[in-house]
Amino acid sequence: MSTPAANSAKITIDPAFTVGPVRRRTFGAFVEHLGRCVYTGIFEPEHPMADADGFRADVLELTRELGVSTVRYPGGNFVSGYRWEDGVGPAEERPARLDLAWHSTDPNLVGVDEFAKWSVKAGVEPMMAVNLGTRGTQEAVDLLEYCNIDGGTAFSDRRRANGAEQGYGIRMWCLGNEMDGPWQIGHKNALEYGRVAADAARAMRMVDPDLELVACGSSAPGMDTFGEWERVVLTETYELVDLVSAHQYFEDLGDLQEHLSAGHRMDSFIRDIISHIDHVKSVKKTAKQVNISFDEWNVWHAGRDESKVPSGKDWPVAPALLEDRYSVADAVVVGDLLVTLLRHTDRVHSASLAQLVNVIAPIMTEPGGRAWKQTIFHPFALTSRYAAGTVLQLAVESPWLSGGKTEDFAALSAVATFDAEAGEAVVFAVNRSAAEALSLDAAVAGLGNNVRLIEAVTFANKDPYWHATADDSTSVLPAENVSVKLDGGRLTAVLPAVSWTMIRLAVES
Ligand code: AHR
Repeated sequence: MSTPAANSAKITIDPAFTVGPVRRRTFGAFVEHLGRCVYTGIFEPEHPMADADGFRADVLELTRELGVSTVRYPGGNFVSGYRWEDGVGPAEERPARLDLAWHSTDPNLVGVDEFAKWSVKAGVEPMMAVNLGTRGTQEAVDLLEYCNIDGGTAFSDRRRANGAEQGYGIRMWCLGNEMDGPWQIGHKNALEYGRVAADAARAMRMVDPDLELVACGSSAPGMDTFGEWERVVLTETYELVDLVSAHQYFEDLGDLQEHLSAGHRMDSFIRDIISHIDHVKSVKKTAKQVNISFDEWNVWHAGRDESKVPSGKDWPVAPALLEDRYSVADAVVVGDLLVTLLRHTDRVHSASLAQLVNVIAPIMTEPGGRAWKQTIFHPFALTSRYAAGTVLQLAVESPWLSGGKTEDFAALSAVATFDAEAGEAVVFAVNRSAAEALSLDAAVAGLGNNVRLIEAVTFANKDPYWHATADDSTSVLPAENVSVKLDGGRLTAVLPAVSWTMIRLAVES
């Protein structure tokens, strides 16, 4: 990347240069038994908008509008102490259990059968995690049998007795969660985890060789073990898994310019993980390619009161936890993180925004009341709706920025997708500057002579700390960017400071 004049950036879009397909699974999310994500989030039988199964119809509708593809379930830290059998069978016979991860009580009114039903209604692909914290291979295989075998065995017949004739055919399975973290119930060192994961993977593949299995990578780039963990775990599991997980959260610690470098930091993390995967591949001299499941990512203001878990004798059911309120700046960061994931579509094959409802979430609910969209809803929904076809490799020239402890990073973060069949190219562009507008000059002649502007929208606000509430979730929305002009093979735009922009072009051949 070279450096043009201050406050101006250039990109060249040419469909001859591609990164890989736009993967629907990039637009996944996450539902954990945590706080109010499940109870009073997706499930609230007493709510006036609850359907016959107790699911909130307003949340289902927003989930579909968000354009979520895959949904990871049931955790997160929760899964490492979870007995899936507690959550199946007649609701009145299910035990309430202590959830040690979040110091709460889980009434187990939602379990795998409810989640599978909800997934069908939401139009999402379920992605299941097994407990490799307090449990192991046997329970993972039992759950797989319960979910995916059509019938004729103890667990599959139990599922049928519980109302689901056909198996759920769940393809993606996470082998535990964040097992490198000392906070994790059943925390293990890399070799201990690698061996358990390999054993569970081998047995699960005996049930179904076509599963797509995700080994736990490091829970954050800042973990002391990051890198060595991947090396040891993949040395044990390389031929048995398809993906290694990546988790990364970003916090606004008061320096807006540094907060806006989140996409750059995610980019470095992805590059590092690729090096660690490919090191093991090279040592093993194998043709098999393991890729990345970025199955937890978002802004999470983890230091704020919202993230304080209950303590002592207080074990509430569905307490308000991690109910972060997101600013416009946070939404710009989320838009940039999606741009970054798309730019790595050759190696990031799946991703999950953590989480979906109430808990660090784009969708919020009031118990018994309204459901509403946070700021981060908008860039996610628009990217999911319009990114299609192929991700293009852009030539980018951008000025550089400095922010806090982060190394210098480009002011412009951009990606373009091209759907030849639909005749549409879309540019997603983020101005990471906290202070200055950026002029964008895009060479689009490579798209041909018949290019037309369909629409250009920008999400920005004079006050980048504005956030939506239940009473006002609509006064700041993505709005038309009137500066965008297309003249011959040249597209120009002004990207305000702290902004996310989407430009859609019709391309006729
Ligand atoms: O998403 C919230 C928590 O963050 C998850 O339970 C855990 O996996 C991660 O640390």
